Amino acid sequence: MLVTRHTEACSVLADSRYVPPPVRQGAPVGTLAWLRALVSRFSTGEVHADRRATLTALLAELAGPDVARLRAGARRLTLERRGDWRGVPTAVLGEALGFPEIDRLVEAVRAAAPGYLSGEESADADAAVTELVKLAGQGSWQGSWQGSEDDGIARITLLLQAHAAVEGLVANALAHATPGVPVDDLLHETLRHDPPLKVTRRVDRETGDEVGIDLVTVNRDPDVFAAPDRFDAARGETPHLTFGAGLRPCPAARHALALAAGVLDALAGTSASGEGR
Ligand code: HEM
Repeated sequence: MLVTRHTEACSVLADSRYVPPPVRQGAPVGTLAWLRALVSRFSTGEVHADRRATLTALLAELAGPDVARLRAGARRLTLERRGDWRGVPTAVLGEALGFPEIDRLVEAVRAAAPGYLSGEESADADAAVTELVKLAGQGSWQGSWQGSEDDGIARITLLLQAHAAVEGLVANALAHATPGVPVDDLLHETLRHDPPLKVTRRVDRETGDEVGIDLVTVNRDPDVFAAPDRFDAARGETPHLTFGAGLRPCPAARHALALAAGVLDALAGTSASGEGR
């Protein structure tokens, strides 16, 4: 079933009958499948609640003034790289989370991120996960590294969740960028009109049926959004579902916006704004 109406999408996302599709258990330590079996994103019930609590605690550490720091950091690094912004959000987030060797980190995140979301296993993705675990073992928080459900896995999770989504948001926003439109308005409307993640999935625990939530269509539901197909940066914030909703929405919407905005701030202020698109 594909959900295309906003109200129905909110109901499914708020109903514990619908859970993320199950992931493979018992895979060898250090592989992509091993990691997916340990993260909040693909777990349910109390296990999900516990893992999500670790993530939100970490995100809270990065919140407040530090969200502004993420924006400033993304702006600075994009300028330093003369507009070549790919990898910048992940580098800034990785540094804020306390990871060492940021270039190696970004390369490993880039290699592991597609499989992390899709579940498609490969030798390259497994090697990238092993590398991420190694880097996490050398993180500045290493005294608190305790094993499977600890801080290190949570920090890796944050990077893998963030990578493609934030880069997708920046790329989509650049396609709509117009001189004079404030970066925050551009981002809010891009999130609604052109979400970086197009679909999120659930399984009905009672019937086993798969449910897809079509985020593009629900964000253009005419019952909720006037002239829904028109890109209108003057709308400001809207009740789009790009960050999910209900029981397990994205816990890092503010962080995502800060990272993307920092890149766009830099590109808007430099003559190199076309580079890296
Ligand atoms: C534009 C950027 C982003 C978008 C569009 C986005 C979207 C989403 C969505 C839709 C979900 C829920 C998926 C579902 O269960 O249906 C989600 C979950 C999540 N996101 Fe984001 N996200 C973004 C950026 C980020 C960033 C920057 C971080 C970390 C700093 C992050 C961390 C997470 C985590 C940890 C989860 C899993 C939450 C849980 O397990 O309960 N996301 N995101």
